[in-house]
Amino acid sequence: MANTNLANAKTAKNDEFYTQYTDIQKEINAYLDYDPNVFRGKTVLLPCDDPEWSNFTKFFAQNFELLGLKKLISTSYAPESKKYKMPYQPTLFETSQPHYDTDKSKTHGKIFVLERDVTGDNRINIEDLQWQYLEGDGDFRSKEIRKLRDEADIIVTNPPFSLFREFVAWLMEAQKQFIIIGNMNAVTYKEIFPLIKDNQVWLGVNDVRWFYFADTNGELYEAAHSRWFTNIDHGRRHQPLRLMTMAENFKHSKHKEIRGQKDYVHYENYDAIDIPFTDAIPSDYEGAMGVPITFLDKYCPEQFEIIGHPHGDYGLELGLKPYPRELKEINKGLRDGDLYYMKDGKPELPYRRILIRKKQSV
Ligand SMILES: C[S@@+](CC[C@H](N)C(=O)[O-])C[C@H]1O[C@@H](n2cnc3c(N)ncnc32)[C@H](O)[C@@H]1O
Repeated sequence: MANTNLANAKTAKNDEFYTQYTDIQKEINAYLDYDPNVFRGKTVLLPCDDPEWSNFTKFFAQNFELLGLKKLISTSYAPESKKYKMPYQPTLFETSQPHYDTDKSKTHGKIFVLERDVTGDNRINIEDLQWQYLEGDGDFRSKEIRKLRDEADIIVTNPPFSLFREFVAWLMEAQKQFIIIGNMNAVTYKEIFPLIKDNQVWLGVNDVRWFYFADTNGELYEAAHSRWFTNIDHGRRHQPLRLMTMAENFKHSKHKEIRGQKDYVHYENYDAIDIPFTDAIPSDYEGAMGVPITFLDKYCPEQFEIIGHPHGDYGLELGLKPYPRELKEINKGLRDGDLYYMKDGKPELPYRRILIRKKQSV
């Protein structure tokens, strides 16, 4: 029971990470490098935010004119609806406003909108943000926030970690453009991987660090490295990996596991070779290859196609042969549908692979 509580507390806390300004700036610049007009005339929605102090709101409000935005909308989730309870203290910004409401402050979400010059200085910037309490708590699944989603062209946020699958489904259902943060593990989720395989979703350009405030002393803690997930085009994904041939790898690879070898290991239960490092993918192999999932950071759809994620039922669907009974007797933990090769008479499972193949046109 105690363990379950601890796990739940950790999951809830994982939902409260926040994003650094420089990480947002670096990533958005990468899309602008590829298409300077990517945000021009667009309505951008930042849901799952805390607009009073979020760097997403700050970045987009500060750069409103530079990006050529039509409208910026940012919403927050009511403190009392958050799973992870932190001592709640409304900001001075909120309490100093005539429409501050002590109850709504806890039970309602907020909406911040930037669309026009309010201060009269002939510029549209962060000073012109106007806010209201939402009718509800700001849950992205509510009717109220769905309506804002439908109005938006581009959605940008770091959604709660525990609702990542639901959040992506929410975006896909409305067919919106998006730039969001998620954990690298999410690429293998059964709801997410097919979208990546079909080039409907891809990884962004930079990796990103999540931070949270330690509630006791207010210090910043780095929590995890994660990734941007998007369906907006950027230059990195059109840069093919520069690779050596198989013979060159055996001669010059920096990896001792490859250098001096005569062949890549072939899987026992699927017609593919195992490539333990992305930079060791041979440029001249035409068949299927199992590569680490971090290959997706370098994936260029003109260079490779993704065959699938060989794991469990999905692996069986891909045609991976089940383990022979005698191997299962040696190792009861073997799960049909996972790739394996034989080493010193024992089955060996490579760590988290996806299957790819060179594009025929390359
Ligand atoms: C990972 S934090 C990111 C905060 C901010 N966007 C940033 O990156 O600095 C996710 C935020 O979503 C909020 N949240 C959790 N569940 C939500 C839901 N169902 N709908 C909307 N927001 C939610 C959390 O309370 C938290 O403020």
